Amino acid sequence: MKNIWTLSLVLLLAVCCNEEKTIYKNPDAPIEKRVEDLLRRMTAEEKIWQLTQSRLGGNDNPNNVMRGDEHIPPIVGSMIYTSETAELGNAMQRIAVDSTRLGIPILFGYDAIHGFNSCFPIPLAQAASFNLELAGRANEITAQECREAGVRWNFSPMTDIARDARWGRVMEGYGEDPLLAASFCAATVKAYQGDDPSQPGRIAACLKHYVGYGASEGGRDYAATDISLQSLWDTYLPPFHSGIDAGALTVMSSFNTLNGVPTTASHYLLTEVLRERWGHEGFVVTDWAAVKQLVNQGAADNLKDACRIAFNAGAAMDMCDYVYPKHMQELIDEGAIKMKDVDEAVRRVLRVKFRLGLFEHPYADPSGSEAMSPSAKAELFEDLAQESMVLLKNDGILPLRQGCRITLAGPIADDKDAVLGNWRAHAKTDRSVSILEGMSTEFGSGVRIAKTDAEALSLARSSDVVVLCLGEPSKWSGENKSRASISLPAEQEELFFKLAATGKPIVVTVESGRPLDLSRINEKAAAILYTWCPGHMGGPAVAGLLSGRHNPSGKLPLTFVHDKGQIPLYYNHRNPSRRGDQGIYIDGVPVTPLYDFGYGLSYSKFEYSDLKLDGLTARVSVTNTSDRDGKEVVLWYITDPACSIARPAKELKHFEKRLIKAGQTEEFVFEIDKMRDLGFVDSEGRPFFESGRFILMAGDQMLEFNL
Ligand code: NOJ
Repeated sequence: MKNIWTLSLVLLLAVCCNEEKTIYKNPDAPIEKRVEDLLRRMTAEEKIWQLTQSRLGGNDNPNNVMRGDEHIPPIVGSMIYTSETAELGNAMQRIAVDSTRLGIPILFGYDAIHGFNSCFPIPLAQAASFNLELAGRANEITAQECREAGVRWNFSPMTDIARDARWGRVMEGYGEDPLLAASFCAATVKAYQGDDPSQPGRIAACLKHYVGYGASEGGRDYAATDISLQSLWDTYLPPFHSGIDAGALTVMSSFNTLNGVPTTASHYLLTEVLRERWGHEGFVVTDWAAVKQLVNQGAADNLKDACRIAFNAGAAMDMCDYVYPKHMQELIDEGAIKMKDVDEAVRRVLRVKFRLGLFEHPYADPSGSEAMSPSAKAELFEDLAQESMVLLKNDGILPLRQGCRITLAGPIADDKDAVLGNWRAHAKTDRSVSILEGMSTEFGSGVRIAKTDAEALSLARSSDVVVLCLGEPSKWSGENKSRASISLPAEQEELFFKLAATGKPIVVTVESGRPLDLSRINEKAAAILYTWCPGHMGGPAVAGLLSGRHNPSGKLPLTFVHDKGQIPLYYNHRNPSRRGDQGIYIDGVPVTPLYDFGYGLSYSKFEYSDLKLDGLTARVSVTNTSDRDGKEVVLWYITDPACSIARPAKELKHFEKRLIKAGQTEEFVFEIDKMRDLGFVDSEGRPFFESGRFILMAGDQMLEFNL
């Protein structure tokens, strides 16, 4: 009997120990317990590899041309996965899960910033839609398509404030305004991660590029940045803070040196602000080879030094330059990197993997994107595209009347590539519906396409209107695509002037990833529709807007200049010390924009009235005085005319887009929050409120109040 008891006790202990041993494999155990359990089983080598990102698959992106790194051990923490389908990743994952000592799954990441297989408008265009809900639905599709290919981590949203159109990456972000960027950033994080990122169709977001990358000198990519701490806190950091509050699991440090310190080496940004002040529980990945680049930037003497500096600053994962696996162990042995910090970094990586449910579902999710039919997706993408396009000018020619004779000309008319823009992930041009196809469906035989400039001129003479499709080739914006000039290609402007000389009205559509300098064509064009890079459904969106099937409702997220010499020019600048005719350019270039932030025409006419304040509840009435239903974006601005820290001339504090039926009046409400909307931050990010006079604006309505 005694023996039986002893045996039972031994068995029970064995079960318990075994149970205890595999806590990290138990999906019902709390995540933090699983993390700690796994962490204590790992060797230093396994830990260091978890902090490493390599790559898998092929890619022709000129900025990260690659083939997979086959020599990388399957204990690697993450891989940038560039294959379109799941097979390769699943096979690699099987090795990681089944054939490594601890079976830790690999986190596959990729850049799917405006679609994965699908392609919808670039982020800058999404911002122009001012429609968070619509953009959110499109971004949810990205998450589903990523999962289908086994990608569980998207290097998006990019939420860099960018006020220099020469910088090629303005296309990837949400423009010049902190509130607009913060709102789209949070909505995109939610669209990717949902409430629970382990659920089907959900992936991890990565806020990038932390921080200040958009302010690179002269718009030159990778250049250093100098941003005062005041502007850092009141302009550049808020979109990131909003993404963290929305639950973003990861953050990518940026390439730039900021105020003398590369962000990848900044303990202040990566640890003090992100971890300690904002309480971020996920991890920071560096940008591509950014640890190595610390040497180029003059912040580290050699790669070992770079490893120590970046890691100790708080960069948990090293993207694709293998400096961590090469040098970290030696630095640990020398005491220059502490094991407790390695543990903390690994803890963060594992936490993200557990929160993503990667241990339970390490493989691609084949049913990912079936939730929506292809036609419903196309409808959504067309809607987002048409809501993001901005009608800059209309002398009354638009909408075009049915039956009019249209000459369709210009290099973008039948270009299925330009409309996709850069960073298009796996989107294929054959899924693009060109403007030509869209126009032919919309207007039937009324449309004649001119294949050459000469043909355009001869067809124009017997047409009622010319629709001239201009713009930049797709690879003129994106990473490493800075331009010193932001004009349309010279031959396109030439064609415009030749056609304008025929005396026929010219409707110009402009495809681009950045605001271009349109000053030369602006006056003579009968209408200008700015389409950005609208994605697969750009053609029908353009055609629908020109015919009036859609009513334009996009507004500019970035200021358009008269002349590139005005850059940077943005609406929320601080006021100059002298006004009126002081501080102007003596060579005749205006100091005001060609088209301001928030500008955009509609076929409807909206009149604002009755702006009033009841306590801190602001209301304004907007009447659609036209006979066409239309969507209006109400932009609520606040000015604080006198503050101990001079505040921007005006600041967007709230926006709302709504359909207003013809002849109807809608009331828009803005609940003002004293600290959030009337307060400010100092140069250390401390919020404060100063009582006094404030000015509230919506449309042409303005109201002063004291608080
Ligand atoms: C470099 C880019 O700056 C970054 O945005 C991107 O996510 C990585 N490469 C990975 O492709």
